[in-house]
Amino acid sequence: MTDSTRKTSLTGIKPTGDPHLGNLIGAIRPGLRLAESYDALYFIADYHALTTIRDAAEIRNYTRSVASAWIAAGLDPERITIYRQSDVPETFELAWVLSCVTAKGLMNRAHAYKAARDRNLEAGDADLDAGVNMGLFNYPVLMAADILIMDTDVVPVGRDQAQHVEYAADIAGSFNHAFGETVRVPSSVIPSEETGRTLPGIDGRKMSKSYGNTIPLLAPEKQLKKLVRRIATDSTAVEEPKDPDSSAVFQLLEQFASPEVTADARKRLEAGGTGWGDLKNELFEVLNPQLEPIRERYAELMAPGSDLDEILAAGAVQARARAHTVLTRVREATGIG
Ligand code: TRP
Repeated sequence: MTDSTRKTSLTGIKPTGDPHLGNLIGAIRPGLRLAESYDALYFIADYHALTTIRDAAEIRNYTRSVASAWIAAGLDPERITIYRQSDVPETFELAWVLSCVTAKGLMNRAHAYKAARDRNLEAGDADLDAGVNMGLFNYPVLMAADILIMDTDVVPVGRDQAQHVEYAADIAGSFNHAFGETVRVPSSVIPSEETGRTLPGIDGRKMSKSYGNTIPLLAPEKQLKKLVRRIATDSTAVEEPKDPDSSAVFQLLEQFASPEVTADARKRLEAGGTGWGDLKNELFEVLNPQLEPIRERYAELMAPGSDLDEILAAGAVQARARAHTVLTRVREATGIG
């Protein structure tokens, strides 16, 4: 619901993979909390996925899947707005306008583009732009349009996306400088989880799709149990004292169990007598009841003819109404239309 007395937050979610527990802790849960203090908008960045995905069924499926996962994890469509980026065509008109006030040099310095060039350099490719499409190059402009079209105040992002939000603020400044105060200048907020510890994956490194070490948010019970059993541990014997903080199993438990359960496990590990296998059982017993309702709601939403389509359609109506007012100001300011 739009509430004009509150500031607006905007969360963008790229539909390029199935969510895992690292996403739940690092993005979804902090994202859910925004609804308490902001007029919170969430959108599935389906047109952003088109810079890399070349399979219609895959984009369609990930778009539904990611929307369902966030709703299943606790987004309440009665209190927030969730929509598909592609349902707000005003975004793409604004992207063109913004590209006309954006210095190309700024895009040359964007992290994702620079990383692609570095990869080509390392691979000894004479063409540093090999494999770079204009969508990837323009990505920060489209992202600025996503943000500015909603009159966004704050954008919660991980460290990796902070530069993009700074760019959006820069581009908003350039537009306002050229055409007068028209668009709202956003700022980024980095969720505290990002500055604290990150969730370990089953090999002990940071849980990440690119390491192949994730525990999927929607893993069926059996698979969940198997993955928990597979978490890497050292070979300390059951009766020996253990260091909880160097254990991936314990770090996972800490994120999902109550402070009392965590403190109790810490005591038992430090005293000796609790084995890693026991701790894994405890972790599973803590995780499974929290994930079960998410799995169930997700399955309902993913079923054909579920509420999902109506939720996204209602979100699109609300989002377009906001976008329309911003675009009208922009057209007026630029003398278009
Ligand atoms: N670039 C973001 C990511 O890769 C997704 C995104 C697209 C986004 N547009 C946005 C995030 C606008 C916040 C605001 O995760």
